[in-house]
Amino acid sequence: MPQVFPKGLNIIVRVTLLGLPLLLSGGGIAGAAFYRSDYTTGTREVVEQPVPFSHKHHVSQLGIDCRYCHTSFEKSASSGFPPTKTCMNCHQQMWTSANLLEPVRESYAKGKPISWTKIHNVPHYTYFNHSIHVAKGVGCVSCHGQIDQMNLVFQSKTLLMEWCLDCHRNPEKNLRPTDEITNMLFKASMVENKKTGEPHTQASLGAELKDKHMIREASVLTNCSICHR
Ligand code: HEC
Ligand code: HEC
Ligand code: HEC
Ligand code: HEC
Ligand code: HEC
Repeated sequence: MPQVFPKGLNIIVRVTLLGLPLLLSGGGIAGAAFYRSDYTTGTREVVEQPVPFSHKHHVSQLGIDCRYCHTSFEKSASSGFPPTKTCMNCHQQMWTSANLLEPVRESYAKGKPISWTKIHNVPHYTYFNHSIHVAKGVGCVSCHGQIDQMNLVFQSKTLLMEWCLDCHRNPEKNLRPTDEITNMLFKASMVENKKTGEPHTQASLGAELKDKHMIREASVLTNCSICHR
């Protein structure tokens, strides 16, 4: 091709022609990234609570099971927060003069619940239920992350629709025996594969539990009316 434009101009044209679509798609990506950003979904945001309760301390160091405080997830849609009485089972004897625990003692004395700020939320037009997930073998850690390592709880997953669907299309990746639901350190290899006598992989365990727990097919679990009723 003959040289029509001076060399310098050519570069500017090329940069513009190449750059424009890049800029446009870049804007699109940035927009999508914003929609999915930690800021808009609330992911990783630490929320202040009336008492700086530490899961790391109580779960990981003291070894208290989730069920001791979150009592309702097996039977109901929500997991709920513990009543002050649960804290006082220990804190009537321990750390009884600590300033940090003053709101707990006051709540107990006045019979007024502590108003914990809820961190994980799905919009009101979406139906979510803890008990079915727990009954079918989805562990707390799959949806809430390593709670046992958090001082203050933060949301570690986006809770966006595509996150729900990603698991509903292929739940095998996240299935475990139901008595391991609250175990933050569970691995498929801790279970023996009865067929081979070897430790399970997540793939072999997931496939076995999908049958055992009678989990329905992806086509059913991604149906809009399952979550938008
Ligand atoms: C000693 C009591 C206690 C134990 C044990 C406990 N929790 Fe909690 N949990 C709380 C309290 C109190 C809150 C509210 C304050 C906060 O968010 O940290 C809470 C909040 C949470 C939240 C945030 C809920 C939200 O959206 O606001 C999640 C998720 C959670 N706990 C999961 C777990 C899991 C999983 C375990 C077991 C590994 C566990 N908890 C063990 C007392 C407990
Ligand atoms: C099974 C006993 C037990 C229960 C139940 C319990 N705690 Fe504790 N908590 C402890 C112990 C033990 C300590 C630590 C004392 C130490 O070793 O420093 C502690 C420490 C604390 C501290 C000081 C900060 C820290 O984490 O070191 C706060 C605040 C606290 N607990 C709040 C709560 C609240 C709120 C509840 C109820 C939701 C609760 N605890 C339930 C045993 C318990
Ligand atoms: C399939 C994903 C999933 C699993 C598994 C799961 N959660 Fe949740 N959890 C959520 C979602 C989503 C919310 C927000 C629900 C809402 O806004 O209605 C939530 C909310 C919570 C809350 C806040 C109070 C409430 O009930 O809304 C607590 C506490 C909690 N979860 C604890 C647990 C514990 C403990 C386990 C394990 C026994 C667990 N969750 C298992 C997804 C899950
Ligand atoms: C880590 C895996 C996982 C994630 C994440 C997950 N689910 Fe599920 N969900 C399951 C499994 C497994 C079942 C049980 C399916 C069955 O019984 O056939 C289920 C069942 C359900 C059901 C019950 C369907 C019925 O017909 O009773 C609803 C509703 C539901 N999930 C909503 C949600 C929503 C909303 C989210 C996201 C906020 C979500 N799930 C995230 C694994 C998951
Ligand atoms: C497994 C649960 C689940 C299924 C199945 C599901 N959704 Fe959703 N949907 C959600 C959740 C959770 C949200 C809220 C979070 C978000 O905006 O991503 C949502 C949000 C939406 C929104 C609002 C999005 C926005 O940008 O504000 C629309 C529209 C929607 N869903 C349509 C659908 C349609 C159509 C289907 C069927 C093809 C469907 N959903 C299937 C869980 C589900």
